[in-house]
Amino acid sequence: MSNQILHILPYPNKVRFTESSVLSKTLDADSVPAKIDSALPKEGYRLTITPQGTEILAGDDAGAFYARQSLRQLCGSGTEVPCCVIEDAPRFPHRGFMLDVARHMTTIENIKRLADAIALMKMNVLHWHLTDDQGWRVPVEKYPRLIEIGSKRQGSYFGQQKDGTPYGGYYTHDELREIVAYCAERHITVIPELDVPGHTTCAIAAYPDLSCRQEQIEVGTKQGVYKDILCVGRDKVMQFVYDVLEEFCGIFPGEYFHIGGDEAPKKRWKECPQCQQRMKDEGLDTEQQLQGRFNKQIAEFLAKRGKKTIVWNEGLYSGQMGSEVIAQRWFDPGRFAIRFANKGGNVIMSDDRFSYLDYTYGRLPLKKAYRYNPLRAGLNKRGKANIIGVEAPAWTEQIRNFDRMCYQTFPRLCAVAENGWSQRKDYKGFLVRLGDFVPQLRALGITPAKADAWNPNAKRRAQEMVEQAKWFI
Ligand code: ACM
Ligand code: ZN
Repeated sequence: MSNQILHILPYPNKVRFTESSVLSKTLDADSVPAKIDSALPKEGYRLTITPQGTEILAGDDAGAFYARQSLRQLCGSGTEVPCCVIEDAPRFPHRGFMLDVARHMTTIENIKRLADAIALMKMNVLHWHLTDDQGWRVPVEKYPRLIEIGSKRQGSYFGQQKDGTPYGGYYTHDELREIVAYCAERHITVIPELDVPGHTTCAIAAYPDLSCRQEQIEVGTKQGVYKDILCVGRDKVMQFVYDVLEEFCGIFPGEYFHIGGDEAPKKRWKECPQCQQRMKDEGLDTEQQLQGRFNKQIAEFLAKRGKKTIVWNEGLYSGQMGSEVIAQRWFDPGRFAIRFANKGGNVIMSDDRFSYLDYTYGRLPLKKAYRYNPLRAGLNKRGKANIIGVEAPAWTEQIRNFDRMCYQTFPRLCAVAENGWSQRKDYKGFLVRLGDFVPQLRALGITPAKADAWNPNAKRRAQEMVEQAKWFI
């Protein structure tokens, strides 16, 4: 009995096996009664399976949903389900997947498949990266050229190889709302991202007067960091950002809004009379502080609409941001996010070396993704308590279709899901449970990478690191 496991991924936090088992076909997850007991933790549940019957006690509706998800997985993994009592609740409140549709889009049907898969793994956030240098994907009534011009590019680069096929597209507001509703039914919050002031080449291509140099540029085709960013010295740029946020807020009702803030080189701001004047007027010494002021203004705007702002860790570089924002750590050699958490700020952990799903398996083997400890060195007790979760981004410069998306994302996202939910880790047990989980992903129309790709040998890893380093401009 002692080495008995339940075929549930992520693994539940407390399991007590009791006598005997029941036939899977006699269990129907949807018709098991559920009662809410608010003494149980948020998103938590107690699932009791006995030969006499099965019942669910849950802390809230999400908890009842997760109890059913556990039951679905148990029934999907064999003809018999062991009798047991599961007492379960997530380790972190934020368990996310980030989908970049700016570089490459995927269909609404495919996004629903991804939502089904992340819900099965008890993840509760779909962070939707909707704008970037290579494309703008949401119509905004006051700025039609964002779609007419900004959603189209002349080609793409895959690694160093140019593909001259024009690329473009966008989602209608109805489609975006359809995904929000589909996710809500699965207890997934959609967090939209408007990435500003950097990664805005597509917006500047549509409206050159949003930039410092006011020059016509093209929507980006290459991967990397572009120098032209929004000119925050101009009032019309603030108005543009507010108008776009207002329209996005009408589509995405969730409590959180991501405003990017990553990789915004300051070269243009240093040379721009308007940006320099703005710094003088506001008594700001550095361009970083100018970005800090910009972030603060946006966070205030969103707070008035009942929303909490999330920024990538570069948003902390000015040193001006307090707990009005949540930081998302991705690449942070200065440890700004760690210090932010230690001082009381909430942080989402997406360390690129452990969570970036666009990286090859050589760069990020499955085992490494699984072993990642988000409560990393440098966090004090307070800091650890301020880590609100984990999130894995699927950046799509190199992911041009849904098959590739599934290959890159699964099963590494399963490791992230377990990291976000379960207190204990057991890589061997995880692999055993993956064996049952993969057919359930396939049933959703998702084909994960095959097992021989998950953990490449050292030689292959070294080759892939060298290859991938050449992709950036
Ligand atoms: C990022 O990868 N630029 C957040
Ligand atoms: Zn400027």
